[in-house]
This record gives sequence, C-alpha cells and structure tokens, in this order.
Amino acid sequence: MVLSRRLPDAAVQLLADVADVVQPPVDRPLGAAELRAAVAGADALVCLLLDRVDDALLDAAGPQLRVVANIAVGYDNVDVEACRRRGVRVTNTPGVLTDATADLTLALLLGITRRVGEGDRLLRAGRSWGWDLDFMLGTGLRGARLGLVGYGAIGQAVARRAAAFGMEVAYAARRPAADGAPPAEHLPLEELLAGSDVVSLHCPLTPQTRHLVDAAALRSMRAGAYLVNTARGPVVDEAALVAALEAGEIRGAALDVFEDEPAVHPGLVGRDDVLLTPHLGSATVQTREAMAVLAARNAAAVLGGQEPPTPVR
Ligand code: DGY
Repeated sequence: MVLSRRLPDAAVQLLADVADVVQPPVDRPLGAAELRAAVAGADALVCLLLDRVDDALLDAAGPQLRVVANIAVGYDNVDVEACRRRGVRVTNTPGVLTDATADLTLALLLGITRRVGEGDRLLRAGRSWGWDLDFMLGTGLRGARLGLVGYGAIGQAVARRAAAFGMEVAYAARRPAADGAPPAEHLPLEELLAGSDVVSLHCPLTPQTRHLVDAAALRSMRAGAYLVNTARGPVVDEAALVAALEAGEIRGAALDVFEDEPAVHPGLVGRDDVLLTPHLGSATVQTREAMAVLAARNAAAVLGGQEPPTPVR
C-alpha cells in the first residue's frame, strides 16, 4: 500500500492495521516520475487530486494493483476506464467535504458581492478612504437569483445556505433533483445563465463540462452578474472570463479553482472585480482528516475483499 502524501495519523493507523504502508519519500506532493517510482509493486494507492492516474502510472504500478483511493470527491485526475480495464477499483471521498465546500462557496459569494477582498486591499495599501453614502457599494443578496450549475450534494448544500440569505435558487442539471433536495427551479443551462444574478458551479469536470462557461456562456449572462467557481478550473475558459470582465459583460468573479493550477491566469490577478482563493474548498482540519480517513477505509475495504464505502461507479 503506497501513500502519495503523508496522511493524518488516524488514516495511517487504519491502513497500518490491514497492510504494510509505504509512506512517500518526501514531505510534499510527488512529481509524476516520483509517483511512478513510488507506486511500483503496490497493491493499493492512496492519492491526491494532483496525482494523474493514467496508463503510464498503472503500468508503473504493475498488475497486482487493486485499488486507487483518491482523497477528493472529484476524480478527473483518474482515468477510470483505464483502471476498470485492469480490474482496479477507484474510490473517492463524497459527503465528508460537502459542508466545507458549501461554506467556502458562500464565503466567496459574499466576498465578491460585498467587495471584501477589494476593501481589504485598499486598507492594506494605505489608500485614503472615508465612509460615504456611495462608497464601495456592493450587491445585496435578498431576492437575488442564484443559479447553480450542478445540483448534487454540494450544490444542494449551497442552496440551503443561500436560502438563509434570502436568495431565490434555481439549478441546471441533467436530471431533476430527487425528493428531499431543497426546493429550487430546474432550468435549462441557457435560461439559468441568462436569468441569474450569481452563477455558481458545482459540476464535475468531464469532457462535457470542460469550458462549459466559455465566451458565449459569459456573454449570455446578466451584465450585473457574478460567477463563482469552487468546482474545477477547466469548467471555465479563463481567457474568455478575463475578456468578459474586461468588456463589462459580467460584474465579477470569485474563483477557488483554476484551469492550470497552481498557475492563475495573469489577467485575473490584478483585477478588483475578481476574488481569488487557492483551492481551499475542503481545506478545514476536520474535513481533510475525514477525507483521508474515508480514503483509507475505501482502500482497506478493497484489500479486505469488501465493497468500499464510496466507490466510483
Ligand atoms: C475535491 O474533493 O474534489 C476538492 O476539490 C478537494 O478540495
């Protein structure tokens, strides 16, 4: 059993009870070549969303590999088909990061609509300012329309929080939400984009969602609208977003994820109408530990011949 990253003790302990655990040689995420070297001969790999699990890595691991346990809900870093062909189970960590990611989405939504980052920068820069009736006005949320792209667990958790701020919520998704989901209007994507004051992305990255928010989508949004992305960077065409902000096609964007992480499009960095955080959606002590423990339980279950708690199907 190989870990691509050192894990919290609770997760390591759980794994050590069922397997010989090989810790990564260095205390940082591994490069691709380092990971290929590390994984040779492993029967299980517990890995990060930064680790590309493709044919090359699976070849490097060898035919005894039985499970890839990704410590993330998103698994666009894993070639699931290539794993399936080799009989390797893939697991992810849904559920345990829902609240943390929804909380950060609201933090970004509030931050961009109320100009929190901009105000912070103004004070730190020592620029002169004074309270005034029209000083640094933002956009109120009560009665504003929130359009959620994707209405899974995280989208629904955002909907619940947004309702507490008085927002009207709609969503675009392939299927209508199941019973028990917070009430929200199900709309075609085009209608959602055109009618929302804030568009927030909660879909996985797939070939179908790559650049879902492109120049045409941005052009179709309201001029006063904001875009929030806590899903995956490549769902948004960043160059098109910069152009849309430049042209005043939307009012602002709050981004936690980027097309080419850790790089951030230079056109976004200097803009006051953009709020940026470095992929912090699940970044709480409690959530990261829960993710690592769930990944460990998944790996341990497969090695023990049992169905893992959260398999990728
Ligand atoms: C995930 O789990 O996919 C998140 O992006 C991790 O923060």
